Amino acid sequence: MALNRENFLLHKLHSLTGIIPIGFYMLQHLTLNSFALAGPDKFNAVIAFFEGVPKHILLALELGVILIPILFHGIYGLFITQRAEVNVYQRKYRFTENWMYFFQRATGVALFFLIILHVSTTTVAAKYLGRGVEHIQYAGMQRMLTDNGYLGLILYAIGVLLASYHLCYGLWNFCIRWGITVSEASQVALRKFSFAAFLVVTALGWAALAGFLIHKPDAAAEPIQASAPAAVAQSAL
Ligand code: HEM
Ligand code: HEM
Repeated sequence: MALNRENFLLHKLHSLTGIIPIGFYMLQHLTLNSFALAGPDKFNAVIAFFEGVPKHILLALELGVILIPILFHGIYGLFITQRAEVNVYQRKYRFTENWMYFFQRATGVALFFLIILHVSTTTVAAKYLGRGVEHIQYAGMQRMLTDNGYLGLILYAIGVLLASYHLCYGLWNFCIRWGITVSEASQVALRKFSFAAFLVVTALGWAALAGFLIHKPDAAAEPIQASAPAAVAQSAL
């Protein structure tokens, strides 16, 4: 199907937002969450750091760098998905490529709902539905993951796996789309890199989740109050 100029630009923007800022946001987000491995105090210091950022700056960052790009990428992604031919059963591409193409879209659709669920039960619940910052501190997150027979943990583990696949296979696609990898050899090399990145990012996310299981809840009973960003950043290191 021929794309008009507007669709072409939107498609490019969709592709770009997958890496910048969303991909980068996700990597820093999983890295900061992995502070849970170091214990409740370190994780709570990260949360307190963001609580210490002036409200209007934090809101501008949340909207401009995270929420609007994710909403645009997600909604336009759903639009692309419903238009795309599900070519799993076609012979045009190799078997594995068909499935990778299919999974890219399937993970996108699943992530759309998982991210809405995730943000509404963390940031939105804590800041706008009156649950308070304790809800997203170590003990609160630990309860969210372990209550109801570890249902939260299972959902988070699956969510991390899907997001990691979507990002890393997306990176491979992105580099081809933007002409970064042109030769067959460079595409094969990037494919290996993307697979390695998928393993590393998944491990990072799962390690962060493990961090919420290895420390006793009691140790997290005393939440750290928000304080000056510099002081808190120092205590987080
Ligand atoms: C190990 C798995 C994860 C954990 C433990 C986790 C934890 C959290 C926490 C505690 C918050 C609230 C932070 C705050 O408001 O200060 C949050 C917000 C958020 N998370 Fe995650 N998250 C995980 C994975 C992901 C993934 C894979 C994504 C996908 C990109 C994601 C996207 C978001 C977004 C968009 C927000 C809202 C940010 C904002 O508005 O400030 N998270 N997460
Ligand atoms: C919110 C739900 C999401 C939906 C519905 C979605 C949907 C899609 C779709 C359909 C594509 C394929 C575009 C194409 O081949 O033309 C895509 C690509 C991509 N997505 Fe997502 N996505 C979502 C979330 C995310 C997240 C959280 C990230 C980053 C962690 C991300 C990163 C990427 C990347 C890097 C690409 C590759 C761009 C390219 O093909 O050039 N997406 N997304």
